[in-house]
Amino acid sequence: MAMLTTPPLALYVHLPWCVRKCPYCDFNSHQPRGGPPPFSAYVDALLADLDQDLPLVWGRPVHSVFFGGGTPSLFPAADIDRFLQGAAARLRFAPGLEITLEANPGTAEHGRFEDYRAAGVNRISFGIQSFDDGCLQRLGRIHDSAEAERAVKLAQDAGIDNLNLDLMYALPGQDLAMAAADVERAVAIAPAHISHYQLTLEPNTLFAARPPERLPDDDLAWDMQEHCQAQLAAAGYAQYEVSAYAQRGRQCVHNLNYWRFGDYLGIGAGAHGKITLGHEQTILRRWKQRHPTAWLASAGTPAGIGGDDRIAPPRRPFEYMLNALRLLEGFRLEQFEACTGLPREAIARPLAMAMERGWLEARDGRILPTALGGRFGNDVIQLFMDEDGD
Ligand SMILES: C[S@@+](CC[C@H](N)C(=O)[O-])C[C@H]1O[C@@H](n2cnc3c(N)ncnc32)[C@H](O)[C@@H]1O
Ligand code: SF4
Repeated sequence: MAMLTTPPLALYVHLPWCVRKCPYCDFNSHQPRGGPPPFSAYVDALLADLDQDLPLVWGRPVHSVFFGGGTPSLFPAADIDRFLQGAAARLRFAPGLEITLEANPGTAEHGRFEDYRAAGVNRISFGIQSFDDGCLQRLGRIHDSAEAERAVKLAQDAGIDNLNLDLMYALPGQDLAMAAADVERAVAIAPAHISHYQLTLEPNTLFAARPPERLPDDDLAWDMQEHCQAQLAAAGYAQYEVSAYAQRGRQCVHNLNYWRFGDYLGIGAGAHGKITLGHEQTILRRWKQRHPTAWLASAGTPAGIGGDDRIAPPRRPFEYMLNALRLLEGFRLEQFEACTGLPREAIARPLAMAMERGWLEARDGRILPTALGGRFGNDVIQLFMDEDGD
């Protein structure tokens, strides 16, 4: 049996409210009813939630903080500041840690980004989705393209140079030229990072119930992906994950940690955490009450915990591959052993099978997906499923 060793630790903070729920979105995000969200009470509850999780990570340095949502940019900077001060007093923040806040361009006001920056935020991730006003309307977005460009400029002027732009493609009414034009506009802004997601119809969304008209078919979606990938590469954005592209050295520290099967605390409504407990040689998953009202009423008490689960050894190869094989860099067998506590022999059979099929290859001491493997991502990962189906 290999030894489980504790990987780097990150902190995820879920902020669940949005001005309006987008029809394609299945995130734990909610339109507030009857007045503004209780921002200050939410921060109190976050700190109580964190207090409850602290014994899981005593003394370990935190390498990134990510405010995700929902629309974190709805929160006043003073609340983000109070949370970060409280978190820094409770946890060991590594020097220069990355602190990302997701922003909807429709919530950008003058002065806001300066204040986030003063609070410690050093990376903003904008939900741009598209620069085409027709597409934005069909997606139910609360902003147009001019507002999106203005918002990004405000963040740049505030001195936040580590920016991500989220784009989606395969949008209703979009053709190849329109998808390419979106990437062109994004690249012209010169952000450090671009995330390029194919629109998916998620169950339990308005789009799943009533699919929008003129959705691109799979072939067109594939052409868009290949075309945009080449465009991004030509503009200096190297792909490093299925949907993530970055300028040299500007990959997202927080997301890379997920994909390398690192540890993270998850606090806030519905947040998930994954923590390696070295002394017990086990990996704990913990998630919180999902609904903001239920979570607010119980955060910091046992009732605030939606559930705890330990990842049994037979399930670890699948969970590891679900993350690691999203990365173009793949993984090293030593990393697999350290993060799962399993010997490499545990995956010898599925690994050989994936290589035989041309889905994975060994190069420079790493195991990585081939171009073919990239196309059959789900099938590759299925090979690592425990044979009992656990
Ligand atoms: C939690 S949202 C964060 C940003 C912010 N809430 C906003 O929308 O402006 C993260 C990103 O996931 C992507 N996303 C959300 N739903 C999606 C879907 N159904 N298919 C593909 N990408 C999606 C969008 O690009 C979105 O910006
Ligand atoms: S703003 Fe973002 S999180 Fe909120 S509903 Fe839209 S996509 Fe989802």
